[in-house]
Amino acid sequence: MHILLLGKNGQVGWELQRALAPLGRLTALDRHATEYCGDLAKPEGLKQSIRALKPDVIVNAAAYTAVDKAESEPEQARQINADSVAVLAQEAEALGAWLVHYSTDYVFNGTGTTAWREDDVTGPLNVYGASKLAGEQAMVQQCSRYLIFRTSWVYAARGNNFAKTMLRLARERTELKVINDQVGAPTGAELIADTTAQALRIAMQKPTLAGIYHLAAAGETSWHDYAAFVFEQARQSGVTLTLQQLQPIPTSVYPTPATRPLNSRLDCSRLEAAFDLQLPPWQQGVSRMLNEFLEQNQ
Ligand SMILES: NC(=O)c1ccc[n+]([C@@H]2O[C@H](COP(=O)([O-])OP(=O)(O)OC[C@H]3O[C@@H](n4cnc5c(N)ncnc54)[C@H](OP(=O)(O)O)[C@@H]3O)[C@@H](O)[C@H]2O)c1
Repeated sequence: MHILLLGKNGQVGWELQRALAPLGRLTALDRHATEYCGDLAKPEGLKQSIRALKPDVIVNAAAYTAVDKAESEPEQARQINADSVAVLAQEAEALGAWLVHYSTDYVFNGTGTTAWREDDVTGPLNVYGASKLAGEQAMVQQCSRYLIFRTSWVYAARGNNFAKTMLRLARERTELKVINDQVGAPTGAELIADTTAQALRIAMQKPTLAGIYHLAAAGETSWHDYAAFVFEQARQSGVTLTLQQLQPIPTSVYPTPATRPLNSRLDCSRLEAAFDLQLPPWQQGVSRMLNEFLEQNQ
């Protein structure tokens, strides 16, 4: 089996390089690739790459993910998150290949307190969410063998993430204010990549499983409680923090160019049932990432 991975150096793309490796031959590209075009801003180049490589599976981890910047660059966001995804869908369909893609809880409007199910009515609040929804719709309409995983609050061990930023601030400051009315589940790129590999193997044996699935760690938290968990873990590991007060604040006092949904809960029971999986509690992945980070940065 030949797998083409796009966006190989993003949070999820990096972990996919590891998780997909045992499934077959992997061609992994980023936007700067030279031999083949892996740039989602260049649809003609993408087409040529796919036609030359003829993969059995295309996994697209590339995306325009700058949520606030998208408000002032809607064309770029749409090009990368929707128009080029339509090209991937058409090319996959022509080859009879599978297309695996990632979307977001930002396709919903964030109201209520119940976890979103796959067939709930969408209603994105910002340009990024609308562009991701348009990408999903292009796939559903234009290819038959597809997996779309909607995820949320993604972090990776590699590079920067919310937990590391909070730890740095808690070593520098005595007081921090963190939003407490947005609720979701921090989801590790490792978990997303491993789940993708598992689901892909099964779906390829059983094509009726093609569809949209919610994929997030189990449980829920707010950014404030997530930060509190990180500080507790750090203190238990013997880290000295200068922080004395962690203050909860509502989203309304921290305005951003893009409106964020308050309810990012995702109901992942469809995924668990279809692929015989049990998603672990969010604390498990965050603890693991923190332990590894603290071992190297005490
Ligand atoms: N991060 C989250 O919290 C979150 C939440 C829900 C869903 N998702 C979805 O999950 C998927 C993976 O996200 P992630 O967190 O891994 O994002 P990420 O770390 O921002 O990675 C995205 C990758 O896409 C690449 N990219 C951007 N423009 C490109 C282009 N024109 N051509 C080729 N590659 C391009 C980026 O490359 P450069 O580094 O060179 O820009 C980056 O490597 C995305 O579909 C995203 O929408 C993410």
